[in-house]
Amino acid sequence: MDYLPIFLDVAGKKVIVDGGTTVAARRIERALSAGAEVHSFDPDPGDEVRGFIGQDNLIHHDRAPREADFDGCLVAYGASEIPERDASLYKWAKKHGALANVADEKEFCDFITPSVVERDPLTIAISTGGAAPVVARILRARVEAMLPAAYGRLAQFLSGYRDRIYAAIRGGTARRRFWENMIEGPAGDAFLAGDEALAEQLIEADLVNGGTENLRRGEVWLVGAGPGDPDLLTFKALRMMQHADVVLYDRLIGDGILDLVRRDAERIDVGKQAGNHVLTQDETTALIIKFAKEGKRVLRLKGGDPFIFGRGGEELEDVAAHGIPVVVVPGITAAAGCGSSAGIPLTHRNHAQAVAFVTAHGKDGLLPHDWTRLARHDQTVVVYMGLRFVAEIAAKAIEQGVPAEMPIAVIDNGTRTTQRVVVGTLADIGERTRAAKLKGPALIMIGTVVTMRDTLGVDTTAREDTHTMELVARDGL
Ligand SMILES: C[S@@+](CC[C@H](N)C(=O)[O-])C[C@H]1O[C@@H](n2cnc3c(N)ncnc32)[C@H](O)[C@@H]1O
Repeated sequence: MDYLPIFLDVAGKKVIVDGGTTVAARRIERALSAGAEVHSFDPDPGDEVRGFIGQDNLIHHDRAPREADFDGCLVAYGASEIPERDASLYKWAKKHGALANVADEKEFCDFITPSVVERDPLTIAISTGGAAPVVARILRARVEAMLPAAYGRLAQFLSGYRDRIYAAIRGGTARRRFWENMIEGPAGDAFLAGDEALAEQLIEADLVNGGTENLRRGEVWLVGAGPGDPDLLTFKALRMMQHADVVLYDRLIGDGILDLVRRDAERIDVGKQAGNHVLTQDETTALIIKFAKEGKRVLRLKGGDPFIFGRGGEELEDVAAHGIPVVVVPGITAAAGCGSSAGIPLTHRNHAQAVAFVTAHGKDGLLPHDWTRLARHDQTVVVYMGLRFVAEIAAKAIEQGVPAEMPIAVIDNGTRTTQRVVVGTLADIGERTRAAKLKGPALIMIGTVVTMRDTLGVDTTAREDTHTMELVARDGL
């Protein structure tokens, strides 16, 4: 290790930032957020630096720094990009006992500035010792992606229990276990899921028992996994996938997503692909309830969004009736995912002021939709679960009076590397879809927004690059 990692207390201390550049702005921002008294110097600062002028604790000087300015200075940053100014800054900083850092000038640096992930009061600083700052920046992005935004608040929340834990739990090891249980266990999960009351209840219950009670209690997480591209998972979904004890997933969930589930978690394919049920709905619900009652954290992973044609509501009704706590995490629904990846905006001021999501079929087969009401000139209709019925739907719509030349698209495996898009009109889409031999899952979009696909120029080719989330799965952090 070439550098000593420390966090410096600069509250109320003098910090100099020389320069009007973007780098200077970042230094000013960080020093201010750590409570320093910041003196910035530049005769003609850029907009970003100007944006700080007038803030408490910032004194701006419309000139370059002079030696006398360094009196009482703790840290001096050079970011003017003017070599003579940088050299003077370093010389004067040293003379007055200040720590100096000149951007991109290693010989003028007493310390290096790390890449920082902030979840106040939690701060993570990453450094490569100046060898490869880009590596640190990429790592930072990964840590950002892995760390829930509420982690800082969790640290703050838990710190309120420090004295009570000290008093209630004897022994360093027992205390450490207790902390780990709080952070990694159901209390931490409940807090990060937004249920502070449940988190408090769990911690209190365990404190009463001197930390001997098993904090684990079963709960069910109904989580939307999005339309297929692992990068379209939410941070919250990913976190829950990495904490679950057992995962029940539909066949629509691709391998790229399942790879992100905690390795030790039990996985059960409840295969809800249309017409090929592995488990019935009742069997699936019964399994979820059984696992939760065993004290497990049960992740019910659904394609898209669990509350949009995902039967999420139905499953939860039964689970809730058993008094099992439930958390729902939304996902990107197929309509939103496919619209973006196929270059078709769902609404557009010149085309559609409304969008309707419908399912092609219900419990008893093809639904008798009123297509003249749905496929209007000012509305986009997105049809889920309709691939097998494309020709029938188009024919019905024409029969009911929708113009035969109404644009329509069928998006197969949207957002995935295997995505295919078939575009046509109501008159010819049946034939075009048949010829394309699409495999599904597929979504149908009806409306003049479909014509925007040609004009927007969105790159809709299947992406073969490595996804961020896949990198996380492969390499961890
Ligand atoms: C049971 S529904 C589930 C919908 C899901 N809850 C959602 O919000 O996207 C399954 C249907 O969603 C659509 N679908 C899901 N993923 C898709 C994808 N990647 N590309 C195209 N359509 C998709 C298809 O119409 C499929 O038949």
